[in-house]
Amino acid sequence: MTKLKSTIRLLCTVATFSFLLISCNNTTTSNWEQEANGVWKYSIGSNDKIDLLKAAKAIPNIEKINDSEPAEFPLDKEKIHITKTDKNIIVRLPLEDEEQIYGLGLHFKSVNQRGKIYNLHVDHYGGTDNGRTHAPVPFYVSNQGYGVLINSASYITVYVGSSVRVDSDNKPTVYDRNTDKEWEAQPKSDVIEIVIPDENAEIIVFNGGTPLNTVRKYNLYCGGGCLPPKWGLGFTYRTHTLYTAEQVIAEINEFEKQGFPIDFIGLEPGWMNRSYPCSYEWDETRFPEPEEFVSTLLNKGVRTNLWMNPYIAPKAKLYGPMLPFAGTHYVWNGIIPDYTIDKARKIFTDFYEKNQLDIGVSGLKIDEVDGFDNWLWPDAATFPSGTSAEQMRQVYGLLLQDMITDLYHKNNTRTYGLIRASNAGASRFPFVIYNDYYNHKDFITALINSGFSGILWTPEARQSDTGEEWLRRMQAVCFSPMAMINAWSSGTKPWSYPEVYDEVKTVALLRMQLLPYIYSTFADYHFNGTPPIRPMQLTEEFYAQEEVKEGELDDTKNPYKLALKSDLKDQYMFGENIIVAPIFTGDTSRQIILPKGKWYDFYSGDYLGENEIIHIETKLEEIPLFVKDGGIIPMIKSGLHVPKKNEKIALELRYYGKAEGSFLLYDDDGETFDYEKGDYSWTKLSVDAQNKKDVKRMEGNYFNYMDISWKFMTE
Ligand code: GAL
Repeated sequence: MTKLKSTIRLLCTVATFSFLLISCNNTTTSNWEQEANGVWKYSIGSNDKIDLLKAAKAIPNIEKINDSEPAEFPLDKEKIHITKTDKNIIVRLPLEDEEQIYGLGLHFKSVNQRGKIYNLHVDHYGGTDNGRTHAPVPFYVSNQGYGVLINSASYITVYVGSSVRVDSDNKPTVYDRNTDKEWEAQPKSDVIEIVIPDENAEIIVFNGGTPLNTVRKYNLYCGGGCLPPKWGLGFTYRTHTLYTAEQVIAEINEFEKQGFPIDFIGLEPGWMNRSYPCSYEWDETRFPEPEEFVSTLLNKGVRTNLWMNPYIAPKAKLYGPMLPFAGTHYVWNGIIPDYTIDKARKIFTDFYEKNQLDIGVSGLKIDEVDGFDNWLWPDAATFPSGTSAEQMRQVYGLLLQDMITDLYHKNNTRTYGLIRASNAGASRFPFVIYNDYYNHKDFITALINSGFSGILWTPEARQSDTGEEWLRRMQAVCFSPMAMINAWSSGTKPWSYPEVYDEVKTVALLRMQLLPYIYSTFADYHFNGTPPIRPMQLTEEFYAQEEVKEGELDDTKNPYKLALKSDLKDQYMFGENIIVAPIFTGDTSRQIILPKGKWYDFYSGDYLGENEIIHIETKLEEIPLFVKDGGIIPMIKSGLHVPKKNEKIALELRYYGKAEGSFLLYDDDGETFDYEKGDYSWTKLSVDAQNKKDVKRMEGNYFNYMDISWKFMTE
């Protein structure tokens, strides 16, 4: 007995000692494993449970990451503290006084996240930036040029410089609220603190030297960006939910008649014979001949995208086979397949392949994978794989994207679809996030934030109170990853507001003309990790180069400080050459912060300013677009559909300003994965200081442009 007691005591002492060891443990150099140039990983716990990168099946492109400037570990390791308590892993990272933090997923109100507290939790956005959102990506990038990813599928809380520690070396001054004007409700913090309610996690630090290069490294670590098919980058329209095959065909004919572009059409829940919960079986009354319907559309140059949610109806053919692989709860009265299990994936993909993909369906809109809480499984649910309800919630959107991406890849056909929940590791998925919220300004903030987090977002247009609002929304959606009208409920047509008929058509056709520019921008995302929507905060030219003296701090001489102060969220870069400055209803003028270098008006080629804030009067017919000095924009003639595979098409190269400039034009067949076997090309378009133009093939042979002409836009 005494022996037993002393053994127990000894075991307790060892347990307490090791707990103390872990909980007091600061990171040491040896704990950080270098994964690639400028990427370090710190692992806690075992590696056997699901996490975000595993769910996304992210395969880092190490070769490409290593193809960058040598990088040092960007933070003082002594100042990083990683501790483990019985419930949580707690991570503390240092923050400089003036440091700004961006990212952490799809937020709708703010871009600079310093001072915020986020509980990163997959959810439908509810109108407040609190971390509950469609893509609560636990990756942030600092304006100091480094980034941090927390790879864990739990509800992570991030205190982004909002907490002040007693043991800080850099404590804020204490003021007295009664007497000191400097008193602040939120004293300055010098740390980011992260609580991970998990036993396992990876902390991954990225250093690309600049914020943009760090985001590139993060995207490459997740496998690079997606390369959508060309048709995905044209124009898309989602029909009213209960439309029949004839009505959809009539709609497409009307697009043609009106001269509005359309590349893919979305069918909403009414294509199925049951929805909420779903059957994934065509409704025989509305779509009696699905195969014929899809091929009629294809012959018109229009692809079909189908709405779905993952919850299977008791009367569906898939219900029985999927039941053994379903979670304990219903959502919308349907079972929830556990898509971490290969057999469950196979049951769905076999069915989808046979009934939809094989007859020519081009992709899916995957709805309801985000919440709200009432529209999802509770945290009390369990799943056959042992994945917890919490983990499943954080990764479900990733699992579905991976399953569909993989299926289309196996069929050597590219897809481009929609998803309402995503997370870290998603950059390689050809899916764009959307939601039911509808605030135009907040949609633009989300668009900007998507650029920090390896995700894509569409500020879809549904309907509007006025023609002016319709036009302003349409103009912005044409400068986003998916130019889409979602008329599932409203039935709105692009031409529903006759007072802006011409203006709406002009911008939709401009989107079509810009295809070579947009496609090359996505190729840069795919191969180099460069986000297609680039927040201004990611552009190097945005940060003031010279030190500005305090007395001289003025919003014209040093616009950047103003931008940082005011959380710049109403302008962004679309690809590397164009700044987009959306206009919102009622605006008759607006200001634009032009980064270093000269900037020119896209439409006229006129010089507009350099390294300063400018004010412009708005024009109804134009969304303000600014092109960088030396910027080359490759364009084609406007068509109602993007060029077909192997269709030769004339190319116009617009050149702006006076500076030397070059642009890498990418081309491939735009539909298959043959580019992975080398069927693609990169062509360098350039203009030198003497205005000498050049078009030079750098790599590959697939090139479908002909009759190349130059247009010098600036007099
Ligand atoms: C919503 C979705 C809408 C539309 C609708 C159809 O959940 O956000 O875009 O698809 O379902 O029922």
